[in-house]
Amino acid sequence: MPPPLSTRYRTAFVTGASSGLGRAFAEMLLAEGVRVWGTSRDTARLVPLVQKHPAAFTPVALDLADGDAAETAYARAATQAAATQAAADAAPGFDLVINNAGFGRFSPFAEVRDFAVWQAQLDAMLTHTARLAHAALRGMTARRRGCLVNVSSLAAEFPLPLMAGYNIAKAGLSALSESLMFELRGTPLVVMDFRPGDYRTAFNEVIQAEAAARQAAPSSSPPSPPMPDNTDTAPRPAPAPGAPPHPPSPLRIPRPRLTRAWEALEKNLRAAPPPARAARDLRRALLRGRPGIVRSGSFFQARLAPLAARMMPARLLRAALARYFGAA
Ligand SMILES: NC(=O)c1ccc[n+]([C@@H]2O[C@H](COP(=O)([O-])OP(=O)(O)OC[C@H]3O[C@@H](n4cnc5c(N)ncnc54)[C@H](OP(=O)(O)O)[C@@H]3O)[C@@H](O)[C@H]2O)c1
Repeated sequence: MPPPLSTRYRTAFVTGASSGLGRAFAEMLLAEGVRVWGTSRDTARLVPLVQKHPAAFTPVALDLADGDAAETAYARAATQAAATQAAADAAPGFDLVINNAGFGRFSPFAEVRDFAVWQAQLDAMLTHTARLAHAALRGMTARRRGCLVNVSSLAAEFPLPLMAGYNIAKAGLSALSESLMFELRGTPLVVMDFRPGDYRTAFNEVIQAEAAARQAAPSSSPPSPPMPDNTDTAPRPAPAPGAPPHPPSPLRIPRPRLTRAWEALEKNLRAAPPPARAARDLRRALLRGRPGIVRSGSFFQARLAPLAARMMPARLLRAALARYFGAA
């Protein structure tokens, strides 16, 4: 029987602890006796964790849309965490930081009219997430110990269809993890790049709800797939008599392909394992305490596919992915 994680990590900071994987990570750490600071944009969503673990769980309001505010929220929590520890360890910081919060956007990249949609995703999931990693590592460097886990995705290796912003953010986050593993070789600091495959969380529902909100559609009937409004889809009126014909309409990804890709994503998520399994894989990795990539998910996604991909020519791999996502 391995010792509980609390013998190695006394305090942890988990972003996106209100739902899905982050919630499962927080629950797992709390069950192991670790004190957890967990975040949400809306701390009311953290009430169940507070009620269940009043002494060991501290809710933190943190929105990755605002980098300054997110770093301030982290710094405040790091100071609180240090106050709970022995004087020798009193430098602000956590033994474990899990950069987990994130969200998807499903749309053809160039059909979205306003690049701000993609910019917001990159700001939150790449720039501001890297900023939290920076703040966390500065604390760990001062304390000469600590572990940073970046929750990336197998999408860093196998890009998801019609989710360019997400794929960029996750590939960038994994590149950050790998850069840090290289830099920190030979030091006591540990960086892990945790790459989940599909897990049954609210991930797709959030994509649909956000798309519905952007379209101002009734929330009780989210569209499927979660598209249009800000994409170039509006039908054009016929030209007035005698007026020159419209220029050719812009190229659009065929809608049946979009629907098939969304249905494939939905089907995969519905059939995916529960978040507790990702928490179990993370626990195992944290007990090992070694830097590296941790793939987690179904046998096919997390074991077989990465192995096959290493042996396949890139073109063949792209064709296989297109088939897998119904886009062939
Ligand atoms: N589920 C999967 O299949 C899967 C696969 C690979 C990777 N992942 C990654 O795992 C992580 C967790 O996703 P999940 O599947 O557990 O989804 P989820 O159930 O939707 O949870 C997402 C969490 O992120 C938080 N969050 C979202 N946007 C945020 C923002 N702008 N600022 C701060 N917090 C924000 C949410 O908190 P509030 O809404 O309460 O603020 C929530 O706690 C994400 O990074 C995701 O990319 C998931």
